Amino acid sequence: MSASSRQDGFELPAPSSADQTKSLELIEQLVEQMRDAPISFADYMATVLYHPTLGYYGSGQVAFGAGGDFITAPERSRFFTAGLAYEWHQARAADVGGEILEIGAGSGRLAIDLLELLAADEALPERYTILEISPALAARQQQNLRASLPAEVVERVRWIDAWSALDWSGGIAIANEVLDAMPVERFRWWPGKPDTAERLMVGFDGDRFVWKEQSADAPLQAAVEAIAARIDRPIVTPRETVLAEYSPDLADWLGEMSAALGAAGETWIYLFDYGSHTADIYRGDRGEGTLKCHYRHLAHEDPFVYPGLQDITAWVDFQAVEQAAREAGFAIDGERSQAQWLLGTDVPRLVERELQARDSLTDQARLAQEFRELVMPTEMGERFRVLRLRLGG
Ligand SMILES: C[S@@+](CC[C@H](N)C(=O)[O-])C[C@H]1O[C@@H](n2cnc3c(N)ncnc32)[C@H](O)[C@@H]1O
Repeated sequence: MSASSRQDGFELPAPSSADQTKSLELIEQLVEQMRDAPISFADYMATVLYHPTLGYYGSGQVAFGAGGDFITAPERSRFFTAGLAYEWHQARAADVGGEILEIGAGSGRLAIDLLELLAADEALPERYTILEISPALAARQQQNLRASLPAEVVERVRWIDAWSALDWSGGIAIANEVLDAMPVERFRWWPGKPDTAERLMVGFDGDRFVWKEQSADAPLQAAVEAIAARIDRPIVTPRETVLAEYSPDLADWLGEMSAALGAAGETWIYLFDYGSHTADIYRGDRGEGTLKCHYRHLAHEDPFVYPGLQDITAWVDFQAVEQAAREAGFAIDGERSQAQWLLGTDVPRLVERELQARDSLTDQARLAQEFRELVMPTEMGERFRVLRLRLGG
C-alpha cells in the first residue's frame, strides 16, 4: 500500500518518516472503511482533513504562512485585517451588536491583528468568539493569542466547537477560506445536462485509492439540476463530459449559522473565499474540475497523495452560496471581488499613510507589494471574493 508522490511533470518533496507513518495509519483506516464498498469523496475528504488525530486540519498538521503549505490573506498582510477593522467601525456606527465571531481561525493571525487594531482604536468587541472544529488548531490559536496579546484582551476571547454552543447578541461574523475547506462531492457530467451526472466514489484496488463511478444519488441529482438552472448561458460550449464538485454540507451549515446568529440582535456576515460564479465553475472546458491540493506551496490535482499531510480544496460557487443563504433566511448584501471590497474601505488611505511614515525604500516596497498582492487581479484581487450577508435588525 502506498501514497504516490509523483505528479505530472514533478515529484512532490518526501514527508519526514514520522509524517509518512502518520499518513500510512490514516490510509489503513480509510482502507478499512472501504472494505465492503467504496466511500463518497466527501467522506474521504472529511476524514483526510478533519480526523481528530490524523487529519490535516484535525491533527494540526497544517502549516500556515510563507513557510507552510499555502498562504491566506490575513497571513499575507495586516492590510486585509485592517479592512475588517473598517467594517467593524461601520457596523458599530450602525448600531449592530457588539460581538465578533470568527469561524475557522487557522493559526489565529486574523484574531491577533484585528484585536490589536481595535485595541489601538479603543473599539474592542465585548466578546470575540472563535468557532473552530479542529481541537489542535483551537489549542494553537489559544497559545498564539496568549503569546501576542495582553491578558485583558485575551479574556474577551472564547472558543467553541459547534454552532449549538454559541450564545450571541449580534455583531459581525467573519469566515476566511472556510467554505473552500469543506468536503465536496465529485461527479462527472456533460455540463448543463443533469441526467448525465455520475457520482465519483473512492475505492482501494489493493495498492492505491482509485475513483469508482456510480449512478447519481438523489442529492447529486438535485445539486446538478440546481447548477443547470443557475447557468442561463454557458461560457464555453461543452465538447465532452467533465469532472466537477459540489458542496453537500453548504445548506445545512448556513441553516445552522442562521439559527445560531439570527436569534438575537443584528449581524453582518462576511464570507471570504476563492471561487467564481456557476457558469464559470462548471465550464465545458474545465475537464478536471476545480479540486486543488497543496503541499509545501506546490499545487496539484491528486487528492490521494499523502492523505492527512496535504490540503484539499475546491472553488466556491458564490451563486450557490447566495442561493442557499437566501433559503436559510439571510438577506444578501452583495458579492464582490476582494479588490473591490478592500478598495472601498479606508485601507488605501492607511497604506498611503504607512508608506509616508517609512524612510526605508525596502520597507516601502515591501508594504506596497503586500497591498498589491491583496488587490491585483493576477494575485488575490479577483479570484478571491467576499459575500456579505445580514441577519436580524
Ligand atoms: C484554510 S483554513 C483558513 C484559516 C484562517 N481563516 C485563515 O484565513 O488563515 C480553514 C480553517 O477553517 C476551519 N474549519 C473548517 N471547517 C470548519 C467548520 N465547519 N466550522 C468551523 N471551522 C472550520 C479549519 O479547521 C481551519 O482553521
